[in-house]
Amino acid sequence: MTSVELRQKYLKFFQGRDHKIIPSASLIPSEEVELAGTERVLFTTAGMHPLIPYLMGKSHSEGTRLVNVQKCLRTDDIDEVGDAVHNTFFEMLGNWSLGDYWKEEAITWSYEFMVNELKLDSKRIYVSVFAGDNDAPFDQQSYDTWIKVGIPEDHIFKYGKEDNWWPTGGEKPGPQGPDTEMFYDLDPRSKSPIDPSANSQRFVEIWNDVFMEYERQADGSYTPLKQRNVDTGMGLERMLTVLQKAPSIYETDVFLPLMKKIEDMTDFFSDSSARIVADHIRAAVFLISDGVSPSNVERGYILRRLIRRTIRHASLLKIDQNFLSEFSKVVIKTYENIYPDLVEHQQLISTELQKEEQKFKNALAQGLKNFEKISGNISGQQAFDLYQNFGFPIELTAELAKEKNKKVDLNDFEKLLKVHQNLSKSQSQKTKGGLAVQSDIAARYHTATHLMHQALRDELGSHVHQTGSHITNERLRFDFSHDAKLTDQQIQKVEKIVNEKIKKNLPVHKKSLPKEIADEIGAIGLFREKYGDLVNIYYIGESDDPKIAYSKEFCGGPHAKSTGEIGDFKIIKEESAGSGIRRIYATIKS
Ligand code: SER
Repeated sequence: MTSVELRQKYLKFFQGRDHKIIPSASLIPSEEVELAGTERVLFTTAGMHPLIPYLMGKSHSEGTRLVNVQKCLRTDDIDEVGDAVHNTFFEMLGNWSLGDYWKEEAITWSYEFMVNELKLDSKRIYVSVFAGDNDAPFDQQSYDTWIKVGIPEDHIFKYGKEDNWWPTGGEKPGPQGPDTEMFYDLDPRSKSPIDPSANSQRFVEIWNDVFMEYERQADGSYTPLKQRNVDTGMGLERMLTVLQKAPSIYETDVFLPLMKKIEDMTDFFSDSSARIVADHIRAAVFLISDGVSPSNVERGYILRRLIRRTIRHASLLKIDQNFLSEFSKVVIKTYENIYPDLVEHQQLISTELQKEEQKFKNALAQGLKNFEKISGNISGQQAFDLYQNFGFPIELTAELAKEKNKKVDLNDFEKLLKVHQNLSKSQSQKTKGGLAVQSDIAARYHTATHLMHQALRDELGSHVHQTGSHITNERLRFDFSHDAKLTDQQIQKVEKIVNEKIKKNLPVHKKSLPKEIADEIGAIGLFREKYGDLVNIYYIGESDDPKIAYSKEFCGGPHAKSTGEIGDFKIIKEESAGSGIRRIYATIKS
């Protein structure tokens, strides 16, 4: 079965069960999704992601049964790309019940689709259900339904939150619940252990039905979700490997033309480099088409990193001519009928790729030469030189080092980077002529936002956390999780706390810390997608020690140097911004 047939069959099957087909959303989450979500993610990471407002109770114009094929991008497994099953970009087939059908229908349809439509061998299907813990009971209904459709007892496994809960582990606030996963036995004659979640050589996970019935609060407690939803997700590429009996996702029809092109261009074929090139170029094409351009921050940085890694692995394959634009055409051709906007953006995609290729290529050759010259481990200074002189993202240096069994002094690198950033900041301030004495208005608003975030938590409780923020030169706007309208007293109290902190003229510090340590000392704020272990936190307090600071948040800045720069702080409006979300507008005056 081809990928085209699989997409069609899936949509049609659920359409026949009263689902409305909705189009794939962009890889860039909309502002509405960002505001409704309890944590910020840079990209659409699952089919359910664009639907968060509707899973939280908003009514959907297409009704309560939805189905689609969604473009997704996940970078957490980027280091795994190159093996048989991992991708950054992928497509997810999903069907949803927004407070409509529940476990029995969802499981029965999953089974019918796999066996009747895809003709999978029912004897090779294994499933897992949630075993139960202190937060939620054993998922008896899912278990019983699997028995009812004909899955034998010894094909049903019970696992805890680490396997049968979505989002995995359930440590973050937001809608969640137990799930039931479906696996396919790739090698029924094998004598290897029958434990689907632990034996990924033999069992491939093909589908996940999530039963969202809880909302996890910031304090770790669970409350029933306003409406019970079903969220299912099937990885298109993984299912294709099963259907096409392919040894890896790269040998399914969505990748074959590109892999062939890569093979044709090299006499030094290596599976893993070719797969990295194929995966990353495909992701880059879709990202550019959705409006991302290479840069040094956030989404643009991820794109830059994907492109630069593609170039490096192509150079390992000794593909030297400019190839990115050529490869992008193969990707676009593969998907032109499914995502016609790729064709529309073909020129832009090509230009962006060529520009980035040009920028990085010359530097790469020189940089590699310099890298080879380093004997022993790599110091922070050496890593920094590669970054500054040759545009090597630190991860690239780390990857090269790993190949050669060398270590990189990441701590020292971060320190040098910080000094460099401060230096360029002060240089650019100097060029503005005198203005540098007064910190930038947006930075002052930004610092005021941090103070207010903490003041809200002081006054209302630690369930308060940011769901969105927007700053202009005239005001700040801040969205946060809280169930009730703020009283006048509460508003006055928050203002008072913030103004007190401003009067104390507390210094604002910045530190790069390993994510785990930042979490440990209680840094709050929006999750930032990251590659290394280090995250930036800004903290506000007398002492240099972030542990005892008044406010500490994950953040990219910029900020005022000290709170005194902010000026008088005033809340001008408080209103609802959706269910369980409040919005505050505030101004500052010098
Ligand atoms: N959200 C779930 C997943 O990503 C099911 O769609 O696995």
